[in-house]
Amino acid sequence: MSSPNPYRLPRIVVPERYELTIAPDLSASRFEGNVCIDTDVREATDRIVLNAADLTISRAMLRSDAGEITPERIEIDEQAERVMLDFGVNIAPGRWQLELDFSGELNDQLRGFYRSTFTGVDGSTQVIATTQFEATDARRAFPCWDEPDFKATFKVSLLVPSHLLAVSNGPEVARQDLGDGRVRIDYAETMRMSSYLVAFVIGPLEATDPVDVDGVPLRVIAPIGKQHLADFALEAGAFCLRYLTDYYGIPYPGEKVDLIAIPDFAFGAMENLGAITFRETSLLIDPSTTGLAEQRRVVDVVAHELAHMWFGDLVTMGWWEGIWLNEAFASFMEMKAVEAMHPEWHRWMAFAVDGGAERSGALNIDALSSSRPVEFPVESPDDANEMFDALTYGKGSAVLRMIEQYLGTEVFRLGVKHYLENHAYGNTVTTDLWASLDQASGTDVGSIMNTWILQAGYPQVAVTQEGTTVRLAQQRFLLSDDEMGEGPWKIPMQIKYSIDGALAIEKHLMTGPSLTLEVVGRPSWLIANAGGHGFYRVAYPPASLAGLTAVLPQLDRMERFTLLDDTFAFVVSGQAAAQDFLELAAAYRDETDQAVWQMLIAHLGQLHHLIPDDALTGFAARVRHLLGPIAARLGWEPAPGESDLDRLLRGHVLRGMGIVGDDGATIERAAEAAKMLLEDPHNVDPDVGQAGLFITANQGDIQFFEALSEAHANAETPQREIRFLQALCDVDAHDAVAELFRRILAGEIRNQDSAWVLMRMLNNRKTGIDVWDLIRRDWDPLIGSIPALTVRYIFEGLPALARYPEADEVVAFVKAHRVAAAAKTQEQALERLEVAMAMRGREADRLTAYLAETGRTD
Ligand code: BES
Ligand code: ZN
Repeated sequence: MSSPNPYRLPRIVVPERYELTIAPDLSASRFEGNVCIDTDVREATDRIVLNAADLTISRAMLRSDAGEITPERIEIDEQAERVMLDFGVNIAPGRWQLELDFSGELNDQLRGFYRSTFTGVDGSTQVIATTQFEATDARRAFPCWDEPDFKATFKVSLLVPSHLLAVSNGPEVARQDLGDGRVRIDYAETMRMSSYLVAFVIGPLEATDPVDVDGVPLRVIAPIGKQHLADFALEAGAFCLRYLTDYYGIPYPGEKVDLIAIPDFAFGAMENLGAITFRETSLLIDPSTTGLAEQRRVVDVVAHELAHMWFGDLVTMGWWEGIWLNEAFASFMEMKAVEAMHPEWHRWMAFAVDGGAERSGALNIDALSSSRPVEFPVESPDDANEMFDALTYGKGSAVLRMIEQYLGTEVFRLGVKHYLENHAYGNTVTTDLWASLDQASGTDVGSIMNTWILQAGYPQVAVTQEGTTVRLAQQRFLLSDDEMGEGPWKIPMQIKYSIDGALAIEKHLMTGPSLTLEVVGRPSWLIANAGGHGFYRVAYPPASLAGLTAVLPQLDRMERFTLLDDTFAFVVSGQAAAQDFLELAAAYRDETDQAVWQMLIAHLGQLHHLIPDDALTGFAARVRHLLGPIAARLGWEPAPGESDLDRLLRGHVLRGMGIVGDDGATIERAAEAAKMLLEDPHNVDPDVGQAGLFITANQGDIQFFEALSEAHANAETPQREIRFLQALCDVDAHDAVAELFRRILAGEIRNQDSAWVLMRMLNNRKTGIDVWDLIRRDWDPLIGSIPALTVRYIFEGLPALARYPEADEVVAFVKAHRVAAAAKTQEQALERLEVAMAMRGREADRLTAYLAETGRTD
């Protein structure tokens, strides 16, 4: 029987249990292995098909009580990443054990079983062998049924040099000296789980003592010499593990938790059951020299991966089209856990502002005609890997938040618990989650959520008010208006309004194109996304907007946020003018919330990118006027007892003043702060120091580039290393750009970072186009040197090129140079670039004229 998708395996033979033995040779970069797989042959067949990629299979045999059979032919299909074992005789239905010997190379592509290196305390190069299997790379480490619904148990044994630390999913249960300098370590058999969750890590690593989290031992494992950076993550891990166990109402499904820092890592972290792997910056941190953003990153990632232990590991989507179930839910729980641990960080506000894979990033992508539904067909491994985007994470978690708020948090939690209990050790489709939520809430959740998950896009809701009648009308919000759009969405709405000074809040479900409400009186103002949890934008008529502007202090922070952010989105789409945004922004001079400022400064930065050079002075003056009061209030030194958020805010405001506002005094003082940070991180507040770095880098001084390079090479913590690398990207001098590009191409920058470094370099207002020229010139070697799993991040830098006359050529070049692992990202990046070019076309002259007319001299 052949399945329609060439990448899917037949389901005639099904694995139940793997016994996997792996012997890595770290110095030769190779490994050998043996796997015995207990299978259930469900129909008589003469052929067994399973996955394997980049492996040599030297022996295969099949045995049962009835005897042994060896295949006549072992055929490897490199393209489909599978191996066919032809036995020449019929295998009877029943239990058979398949045994395979295989070998492979430890690659440097950050996938499968790969090699990571670091400089040891004595200055020598140290090697770690480690795994990254999601989405479809377990098949690069051992032959297996590498699809998420072939759940089985895994009993792993490792043959490793006795001086190295080795871990896998289960705790160590036996150890035997092999007499050749190696030991054989056996790990406890795992629960039934998907192949993409198997992990093993071997290297010169150290583990902290375990912390007992209500019976579950929790450790941090790090390269030797970095253990002193582990305490912060241990504390976060213990908190989150308790919080999550409590929320789900289900015990942790594994036997232990190891949080493992890996120096070369494609993503932020990976939720292997009990052996969670992390990029170093996501785990190892010195709280005394870092700020909220860097610390929050660690708590975020730890919370997110631990949330997966239940949602993802215990219960898993049946196929990659449902990956949003995993990632959206883990992100949603991440926010909740972080909010619980640090309520003062206002995590849901940050969720709204984050332009990466959180809500704001998702609202931007989902407003493109090249967006896609959250649940989306997947065939190939490339398709699967490209699913891990802002729509899966950001839109998915935002719509979960929206429905949680609509149903009530406790009802929602009970539905989730029901879902996990019902499907433990199994696989699900999206409708299984709706069924559990339906049951808990008595609401037809599926019919609401399908409109968000199964169709691309989201609505903008237009509000009109006439006397006591409020009319709401929805249509798809698109950044380029050449499309009709889908819909309608079933929108859970919260409406808040004020009548004679009395506040009212109402919940409504808008199910059709429009909704008319009668209210008892004449509202003086009205908010159509109260609380700001809705995944939609609201368009107010000018008079209503003016009314809201007048009562900003009466709105909560999220409402102030969405009002301004929606207005900016309408500028990008062409429904409003940049000057409308600037005028509304002027009403935010007394704003106190960090996330609101961060968003406002980011939008000012976007305008700064688009405007012609001769309008820069006027624009900068405008920015200084807007940021002046908050900059003055915050100053350069944290006040005693100041909140973490205010310190973070100071960093953003300084950067706004120094870079977009081009403020001489700020630039001068920033250079001092940068110098202090370079000398000793304890000398200066982390956020001030970091702002100092970025502002100074933006001055394009090649000597500063050299100083940063040296600091980068000698950085003592992962955060310092990354800050210096970020600042290196920001040095907008031609020679600096050429030199950094050379280092990327020469492999002098870790390949885990090349793609985002290029993205950041493309975002230089002055030198972005130089970066593009270099990329284009060395396209083949460059793209070939970047791990396929990360290459797509480069293209996210393209929209920043809209200001240049060469932007049309950029579009043409990218259209002619498709990268298979980044197909969807390329398409969306091109559309975003075209949207930005159109905006530039509309705004360049009229914004310049407006700035000249309203010019300020301060
Ligand atoms: N499962 C992912 C890691 C992953 C990403 C595997 C892409 C395969 C392809 C993991 O749970 C994850 O989502 N990591 C995030 C961090 C998180 C805090 C959003 C990441 O790596 O950025
Ligand atoms: Zn995840």
